[in-house]
Amino acid sequence: MFSRRRIAEFQPVVRDKVNKLCNKIVQYHQDGNVLRLNRAWSAMTADIITEYAFARSYDQLDSPEFEETYLEALQTIYTTGHFGLHFPILFPLLNSLPDWLTLKLKPELLSIVKVRRDLGVQVSEIRQGINESHKMVEHPTIFRELIESDLPLQEKSDERLGDEAQLIIAAGLVTTSWALAVASFHIVNKPEIFLKLRKELEAAIPDPALMPVDWLQLEKLPYLNGCVHEAVRLSYGVTTRSPRLQPEAEIKYKEWTIPRNTPVSMTNVDVCHDENIFPDSKSFVPERWIENTRLDRYFVSFGKGSRQCLGIKYASFLFIVGI
Ligand code: HEM
Repeated sequence: MFSRRRIAEFQPVVRDKVNKLCNKIVQYHQDGNVLRLNRAWSAMTADIITEYAFARSYDQLDSPEFEETYLEALQTIYTTGHFGLHFPILFPLLNSLPDWLTLKLKPELLSIVKVRRDLGVQVSEIRQGINESHKMVEHPTIFRELIESDLPLQEKSDERLGDEAQLIIAAGLVTTSWALAVASFHIVNKPEIFLKLRKELEAAIPDPALMPVDWLQLEKLPYLNGCVHEAVRLSYGVTTRSPRLQPEAEIKYKEWTIPRNTPVSMTNVDVCHDENIFPDSKSFVPERWIENTRLDRYFVSFGKGSRQCLGIKYASFLFIVGI
């Protein structure tokens, strides 16, 4: 579901959602209203990932002022997550609370409590054949494929797939919408970046009405690619440490010996702002990815290795079409 080929098949849906957002932006401009871009991107990414997951979009782009997003709720979860990292008892404790008590303690979690219930229902409806939306769409649907796969039955319980749905929706939503908000800010904030990007895009797509935007073609554009890399670098993705264990042997690092199975980790923010690698690291400089092709080694926001982000292709595709 997250390979290049499968994601490319999903292009028409992404294009539709981007067009819907563009029409709304035009409307905001005509009415002279302030557009809160982080809410707008959040609504768009939610609509896209729910369509990919269940063939049923949540249509948050239709909500007035993009009110119906999961922004506040997910921000609350992530700030609690930081605390929970140091006090691991917290999450099992929170999970065991009845919804009414969770809402009393943290009312901003209302939309997440609702979505948690709803995701379980979506999975169960696909299983029971009540949700047959996948038959009406041409793209693959994550949970239909999982339910029909040859995974062992215990891996396909409503509870397990409901948890998986939460992970995919949350992972696919906050990271991408925030990176798009960071990209929009920097591109609009610096006219020279905006003009350079526009020039590259106009040369590649002289008439968008005649030629729909194609991901595979756009990903070859160097400046656009530089913008995507800078957006991901400066939005960080996951900033907590992602520990790794070496079970087979001790590790030698400079003058230290690290025993087997010791969690070793670092935050990617340290790499993203290492001035030796990214001079003037707080600035958005797309050119650095064109001038130095060896920088990819330090593109760490998606993690590296066997537990690297599953959604890299999906996210890159969204950024390229979104920007
Ligand atoms: C800017 C966008 C994104 C960034 C920066 C990002 C970053 C990350 C990072 C740092 C990890 C942990 C890697 C590790 O432990 O080494 C991760 C894991 C993961 N991400 Fe993403 N992510 C993004 C978008 C997405 C999207 C769009 C999806 C799905 C639609 C997704 C799904 C996942 C999943 C399922 C995992 C767990 C993989 C595993 O444990 O094997 N991510 N992501």
